[in-house]
Amino acid sequence: MARPAVVILAAGQSTRIKSKHSKVLHDLAGRPVVSYPIAVAKAMGVRRVIVVRGPGQNDLAAYLEAGEIEGAIQRQPKGTANAVQAAERALAGFQGLVLILCGDVPLIRAEVLDDFVAAMERDRACLGVVTICLSNPTGYGRIVRDLDGRAVRIVEEREATDEERRIEEVNSGIICADRRWLFATLSRVDNDNAKGEFYLTDLLHAAVREGKTVVTFCAPSAGDFLGINTRIELAEAARVLRSRINHQHMLSGVGIQDELHTCIDAGVTIGQDTTIMPYAFLLGTTRVGSDCIIENGVVLRNAVVGDGVHIKAYSVIEESSVANEAIVGPFARIRPESSIGRGARVGNFVELKKCDLRDGAKANHLSYLGDAVVGEQANIGCGTITCNYDGREKHRTIVGKGAFVGSDVQFVAPVRIGSGAIIGAGSTITRDVPADALALTRVEQKNIEGWAKRRWAKKPAKRGDKRRK
Ligand code: UD1
Ligand code: MG
Repeated sequence: MARPAVVILAAGQSTRIKSKHSKVLHDLAGRPVVSYPIAVAKAMGVRRVIVVRGPGQNDLAAYLEAGEIEGAIQRQPKGTANAVQAAERALAGFQGLVLILCGDVPLIRAEVLDDFVAAMERDRACLGVVTICLSNPTGYGRIVRDLDGRAVRIVEEREATDEERRIEEVNSGIICADRRWLFATLSRVDNDNAKGEFYLTDLLHAAVREGKTVVTFCAPSAGDFLGINTRIELAEAARVLRSRINHQHMLSGVGIQDELHTCIDAGVTIGQDTTIMPYAFLLGTTRVGSDCIIENGVVLRNAVVGDGVHIKAYSVIEESSVANEAIVGPFARIRPESSIGRGARVGNFVELKKCDLRDGAKANHLSYLGDAVVGEQANIGCGTITCNYDGREKHRTIVGKGAFVGSDVQFVAPVRIGSGAIIGAGSTITRDVPADALALTRVEQKNIEGWAKRRWAKKPAKRGDKRRK
């Protein structure tokens, strides 16, 4: 059988989420809500995916364009039936089933939808509805069945009688229909209901009246069909998704010590035998190799981490890379466009920005290294900083291979330190230093014998000051 076409509805007003952004663009484990039904449609290998949006949803339009996803415009949000009609022109030449997904139902799985479509094909059905059973069906359209148990119509919350509201079998929002029948019937749906909207769910009653074959497919796990209308449901979906993601990693050999307090985005990859401690956040497109330790409170955003790396507690790494066997943190801050070489070390309260810290280099304590290259095996002493900004422009500091930089040095960039050079502690370096040279800028030390003793003798101790008694 030919694969269906998929229409994803995303043109609703999103009033219940109380946001200036469409609910389908809200973040869910690092990706917009609508990206999930799109990914499921693609995983099913369908022939077409069309996302219906509103004319004012420019952010959604830009998202679809960037992903080369076909869009259709619903001029006004007049209801779900009207939204599907917006895709009619795009599907004019298409023969077969049209599977309608909701942009706000992100946890669905391709396997379940494949079974649903297969059931429709087997029965040569004209309409199919995926139903779920919920102990609290509030907000969903209820499936009304006749005395023989046949589904005869869907009644929305607002129009439902008290008795109908008690029905626990509801419309998941996923509907499939033969294209020709679908669009012919949609043009006859009216908006005679509490919301004054054209309801897609009226199709069921229309099909039953016409004596068409209808499939109701009761989905095995209701949780997959959580619809996101409010921020409470968004948070609930995030919880479910994160648990799925964490389980997938654990099944492929990643140690997650406290899965309830570990936040891993959908796009993250992690190698085998890596251990993740509680309250770590692995976000965006982060890739972590194998045999790493990611300690408590670490935040990795779009980071690339090699194998055998140890990231200690409360370090933040953004858009940067860390090569094999490096050790970072605790409390290190690695800002974008930095790279930490193989076996290199970055210690506590060290900030890197656009810094290339090469293999085996060390910056172990209290430093700021911005717009800098630190050569292989070079050592940066405690408290050393690059003065990279002159108030107008940024300048670079280059520290050569094997250089030894003492504590509390300031590099006034642009400045270049040759390989093997030594910079004395406390120096302010404003000029280039040749390879293997010693550079010192501090004044010579003066010792004045007995000075301190004489001073205290002139100033008698106050009462209670034990030091000067
Ligand atoms: C809908 C169903 C309900 C089902 C529930 C499952 C209808 C009338 N009701 O209710 O039976 O139980 O989903 O989650 O279909 N949309 C548009 N244009 C519009 C209106 C909505 O594109 O004019 C889109 C929304 O962006 C959303 C989807 O359609 O992605 C569903 O709309 P929503 O308003 O969330 O419907 P529900 O009240 O959840
Ligand atoms: Mg909804």
